[in-house]
Amino acid sequence: MNKRQFIKTLTASSLTLPSFGKNYDKTMARFEQQKPEDLAQNEDFWAEIRKAYRIKPDYINLENGYYSFAPQETLEAFIGNVREINFQASYYMRTRQFDDKAEARKKLAALAGCSVEELIITRNTTESLDTVIAGYDWKAGDEAVMAMQDYGAMLDMFKLQARRYGIVNKIVSIPNHPKSDEEIVEIYEKAITPKTRLLMVCHMINITGHILPVRKICDMAHAKGVDVMVDGAHALAHIDYKISDLGCDYYGSSLHKWLSVPLGAGLLYVKKDKISKLWQMFGDMGYQDDDIRKLNHTGTHPVHTDLTISNAIDFHQKIGIQRKEARLRFLQEYWTKQVRDIPNIVVNTPANAQRACGIANVGIKTMKPADLAKTLLSKYKIWTVAIDYANVQGCRITPNVYTSTAELDKFVAALKELAA
Ligand SMILES: Cc1ncc(COP(=O)(O)O)c(C=O)c1O
Repeated sequence: MNKRQFIKTLTASSLTLPSFGKNYDKTMARFEQQKPEDLAQNEDFWAEIRKAYRIKPDYINLENGYYSFAPQETLEAFIGNVREINFQASYYMRTRQFDDKAEARKKLAALAGCSVEELIITRNTTESLDTVIAGYDWKAGDEAVMAMQDYGAMLDMFKLQARRYGIVNKIVSIPNHPKSDEEIVEIYEKAITPKTRLLMVCHMINITGHILPVRKICDMAHAKGVDVMVDGAHALAHIDYKISDLGCDYYGSSLHKWLSVPLGAGLLYVKKDKISKLWQMFGDMGYQDDDIRKLNHTGTHPVHTDLTISNAIDFHQKIGIQRKEARLRFLQEYWTKQVRDIPNIVVNTPANAQRACGIANVGIKTMKPADLAKTLLSKYKIWTVAIDYANVQGCRITPNVYTSTAELDKFVAALKELAA
């Protein structure tokens, strides 16, 4: 089977499905001229998008931050990929696997806004960022800066380097409601000393949805000779940006989050001139030191997931990042604006539109986060996740493009009842 036939077989199952519901093309034509901010409020348009998903009726899913399940057309393409690779077996693995991954990598680099030579496909953000943390040639006394609001797996990886090499981790805390970008930059700046080598920062803090001024943090850190590694687990395919515009040295993201690739795909970006000094975790000696592919030797793995990245990007681009970002921000503001000023309710996410998008966190002063999450599910059939550490006590609320304002109305009504 040649490449064209193979790709045809792979995508055949997805072609038989209605894309975005049967009326999608007509809907698109009707609304094409609308600005993303106006379209964001158009429930008719988003109801068409909703038809692309198989939605579990048991509860309202406001926990898409863990991972965003795939729309039907991506799922069917994925199943087609699994079938075809099972059919072709080791023949596929020996003949097409690497070229196909290279194609997926190219398409992903274009989406992420960086050169293909600076990006690899990994299994998730954890693998991406841990590859960087463990790949440094740490010396005793070297310092790293991070925040207590960062993701636990990476904080643990830094702790491991402290045990193994004697590095010192400086942990700052990011306020939920900063007055300015400069306030955040200064917090990181104050933690830097002449011994600091690496600074980790979240593009979007996962427990609050807080978007940090990454470009300004990178500029400040670089002026002091410090590398910056960005945790972009929640930013990719959620907000509109290019990795190359951020000025960072390393960037990791998970594709099963906002890009809705089936579970187990991520990306790692390493700036060209930083590749050669990183040690690979798996002993791949087949590439030059400055070839990022040296960091990508994970052994035999589910290649059908890598193949489906292309299908997920196609779906994502049919909506378009500007429309998606505008809708996700609209949904977040739709509910947060209704509860922000209620005395017993605490919104742990900034109100400034530039500092948040789809994710927000809300607590009720008189309830533990775990009790709030439990009650939302048992009494109101709303699925969320409780967060109870650092300066964040509440439930993280992550709608997705299929979420309707009618669902958020139910959530707001539940919050008001519980807060009363
Ligand atoms: C900010 C952040 N970083 C890293 C991760 C880890 O992602 P993964 O489990 O896909 O590696 C997550 C997961 O939720 C996250 O929210």
